[in-house]
Amino acid sequence: MKERLKEIERNAMQLIEGATDLKELEELRIRFLGRKGELTTILRILKNIPEEERADIGRLANTVKITLNEALSAKYREIESELKAKALHSEFVDITLPGKKRRIGHENLVIRTMREIRDIFISMGFESVDGPEVETTYYNFDALNTPDWHPARDLHDSFYVGDALLLRTHTSPVQVRVMEKRQPPIRVISPGKAYRRDYDATHLPMFHQVEGLMVDEGISVANMKAVLGEFARRIFGKHNRIRLRPHYFPFTEPSFEVDVSCTRCGGKGCPLCKYTGWLEILGAGMVHVAVLENVGYDTERWTGFAFGMGVERIAMLKYGVDDIRSLYINDIRFIEQF
Ligand code: PHE
Repeated sequence: MKERLKEIERNAMQLIEGATDLKELEELRIRFLGRKGELTTILRILKNIPEEERADIGRLANTVKITLNEALSAKYREIESELKAKALHSEFVDITLPGKKRRIGHENLVIRTMREIRDIFISMGFESVDGPEVETTYYNFDALNTPDWHPARDLHDSFYVGDALLLRTHTSPVQVRVMEKRQPPIRVISPGKAYRRDYDATHLPMFHQVEGLMVDEGISVANMKAVLGEFARRIFGKHNRIRLRPHYFPFTEPSFEVDVSCTRCGGKGCPLCKYTGWLEILGAGMVHVAVLENVGYDTERWTGFAFGMGVERIAMLKYGVDDIRSLYINDIRFIEQF
């Protein structure tokens, strides 16, 4: 009997020592000390043992039980602290490492250019006003003296959203909306989106324009030239000059296209300006009498000039971008250059 106990003890101690996880340890506890465990079974048959041996064996059995219990809890603590050490290692966070940099965005070139244009005119006393992007044919064309036969009115050139409703093809309708509501003196600009059925390296179906309008007593082409010259110097550089070329717009008379001396070669001639030394930057003119009459102005008293420019074009010329589409790819590596 004693031998049997010793053997259980030896065997159990060896297995406990070799246990590698808590589950295995629990299985060993059940196997030896559980209700039907090897040691428990012996303690249970103790009563069948002759009395003179019983006390001895009982004591021994108890010692074995205590020994095994201690061994089990010692091993239990050992495995647990190993697990903890492992977790500490694998879940280690080095708080001294530099943080992950979150990449922040960058102002798009178009928005930036529009802001630059707006700031220049605001510093010259212009006020920035807004108008609807879905416009009636009245404001987009008729009030602007644009006759029925004008190509811009064609379905092929404009986006119609209804019978007499379209996405504005320019920001000029805002001129009319402002003049309808106010009497001169007027000095406004209107930056915003415009839409045309165009798509190539220099045209997009949606683009941005900044419209300008100045109406007062005695306004002439000279005032227009001064304002636009100042604008060109401020946006492109103080050595830039402008020139006016005769042109046609239904809502201005006389009408002009305004050129700036080439932003790349300074006027000497290069591929950008096609060796002319000049780049076209905007359309302008004296507000047509018919337009002033449409809004009920006294045309004997008030005259004014208007202009309109494409923001993408100004951005491309100013920042040397040759494909308009790259302005809208929104590749942070592209816009971060500026
Ligand atoms: N609206 C014209 C365009 O889109 C530009 C312009 C505005 C011309 C004001 C003259 C006066 O081409």
